[in-house]
Amino acid sequence: MTYRKPKVIVTRKLPDIIETRMMELFDCELNLVDEAFTREQLLDAVSRAEILVPTVTDKIDKDVLDAAGENLKMIASFGTGVDHIDFAIARKRGIVVTNTPDVLTEDTADMTMALILSVPRRLVEGEQLVREGKWTGWSPTGMLGHRIHGKRLGIIGMGRIGTAVARRAKGFGLSVHYHNRNRVAEDVEHALEATFWSSLDQMIAHMDILSINCPHTPATYHLLNSRRLDLMKSHAYVVNTSRGEVIDEAALVKALSQGQIAGAGLDVYENEPAVNPKLIKLSNVVLLPHMGSATIEGRINMGERVIINIKTYVDGHNPPDRVIDTMF
Ligand code: 8YV
Repeated sequence: MTYRKPKVIVTRKLPDIIETRMMELFDCELNLVDEAFTREQLLDAVSRAEILVPTVTDKIDKDVLDAAGENLKMIASFGTGVDHIDFAIARKRGIVVTNTPDVLTEDTADMTMALILSVPRRLVEGEQLVREGKWTGWSPTGMLGHRIHGKRLGIIGMGRIGTAVARRAKGFGLSVHYHNRNRVAEDVEHALEATFWSSLDQMIAHMDILSINCPHTPATYHLLNSRRLDLMKSHAYVVNTSRGEVIDEAALVKALSQGQIAGAGLDVYENEPAVNPKLIKLSNVVLLPHMGSATIEGRINMGERVIINIKTYVDGHNPPDRVIDTMF
């Protein structure tokens, strides 16, 4: 029996090793220029593909899914978050959706920890001082930040990444607190010496640093809104490596500008790649370009997960990273 290779369209440039393997396994169309598909290119791709491999930069909404041909059977997304895909419509149309969890957990937790350290210790401000030739030498009162050790870290979303952040935070002498839909297993809580708060508001009011590690879903949109920012202590910091939409960005800008909170470390934004110009003007924020999972190892692992998901599906099995309802 001859094996008919499925038509796979990949929307972004992926690591060479992944693209090569995809070309071997599938009837694959690659995107050799590293630019996001335009809306027209995306509509054309879904009308021709059997399997689409999008990333966070492709908005797979109702219009795109309506343009999909009967042929589109699977969306094998390159990434963990699936908030760029209208999952309910995809499911209604019988399209299987997969993602790439696990493989970017440690990298994203590292970047979260880097922001937790960078903001209170003013890493970027210090670096700029040296680079701009403005450093006049050591001084007892120069570049004073705030101590990390002994502070309270509140993790919002204790899934894979939240737990990996907690492990790191414990090593830095932070006390770990968390809010999650479900309380984590007792042995995990015990190992992390983590305190569960069933009330998010109460946790927020008592923390020195907040880390956003929950996915963006309808339930978490603007979870950190103006009312909750008001609950934060004035010396507290917020770090976000999840999705910009979880924080009301306009309210955050206001809280930062008015000194309602001490600072923020952001890797993600509400309207990427646009960054609120008011944020850019603030010195008490560290701004990164959505690079939490950006390691070569991570990107290759993610590509491998995409290949495994597609291969398993075309071989007639349930792909290991199939996205299901209960995730929302
Ligand atoms: C990915 C991410 O690099 O996986 C995610 O959800 O936010 C990123 O770290 C990106 O989504 C790739 O599509």
